[in-house]
Amino acid sequence: MAALVTQRVIDVHHWTDRLFSFRTTRDQGFRFENGQFVMIGLPVDGKPLLRAYSMASSNYEDTLEFFSIKVPDGPLTSRLAHIKEGDEILVGHKPTGTLVQDALLPGKRLYLVSTGTGIAPFVSIIKDPSVYERYEHVVLVHGCRKIEDLAYGEKIVEALPKDEILGEIIGEKLFYYPTVTREPFENKGRVTDLLSSGEISGSFGLPQLDPDNDRVMICGGPAMLDDMVAMMEEIGFDEGAVSRPGQYVIEKAFVER
Ligand code: A2P
Repeated sequence: MAALVTQRVIDVHHWTDRLFSFRTTRDQGFRFENGQFVMIGLPVDGKPLLRAYSMASSNYEDTLEFFSIKVPDGPLTSRLAHIKEGDEILVGHKPTGTLVQDALLPGKRLYLVSTGTGIAPFVSIIKDPSVYERYEHVVLVHGCRKIEDLAYGEKIVEALPKDEILGEIIGEKLFYYPTVTREPFENKGRVTDLLSSGEISGSFGLPQLDPDNDRVMICGGPAMLDDMVAMMEEIGFDEGAVSRPGQYVIEKAFVER
């Protein structure tokens, strides 16, 4: 097993009774690319109990941030949900993952398509200044069951334009499309349907998704990933990797068992 480092919890925010985020200290030497994940966890019965978590913080920040679901009988999250300021957590030191810019060919627009806690890696990416140099527009799509599940992403997106440095870089380049499936809201429906119908791009005055100009990063539950991949392939997008960049990349949201 990869060596683990102990970090200290700085603060915890409970967004709903199922979702929370927390920040921890970070070692100077812990390097990662925005969009990557790492194993984190707690010691349980003298052994580390670890799960993969995407960094929601960007790689230039002094602290690490994670966004998590709470599963009542989940071995790790049921414990992690009780962490508080000053507690220690274990963090692996080998970040990895496919949601990285080098896995994508150059393009005009970047779509970041997520459901549930799948938004975490994209929170890291929308805070990355270099992303706005690469693309004319960045479109963050977040689909959840209920309005309250959108709160974490919404808060971050709202804060960005007010950020002293990022605000100017982002300007009018970031578009945010939150949608829910299980109660009335201004945007309603599954991200897959809203993308394939052209609803999302159209709402920002952008053309329909096309493999020449659009790049897509996808993170969500397994069923959403399957449907998104089928849709991407059908409209002519090729999956990318760092060894062979393409037009889209996927990563599963690391939902706790
Ligand atoms: P739905 O309410 O129609 O199941 P979950 O909390 O189960 O991970 O779901 C998060 C969001 O992802 C929900 O809005 C859910 O919609 C949606 N979702 C579930 N399966 C798919 C899928 N195959 N394609 C697109 N969205 C999906």
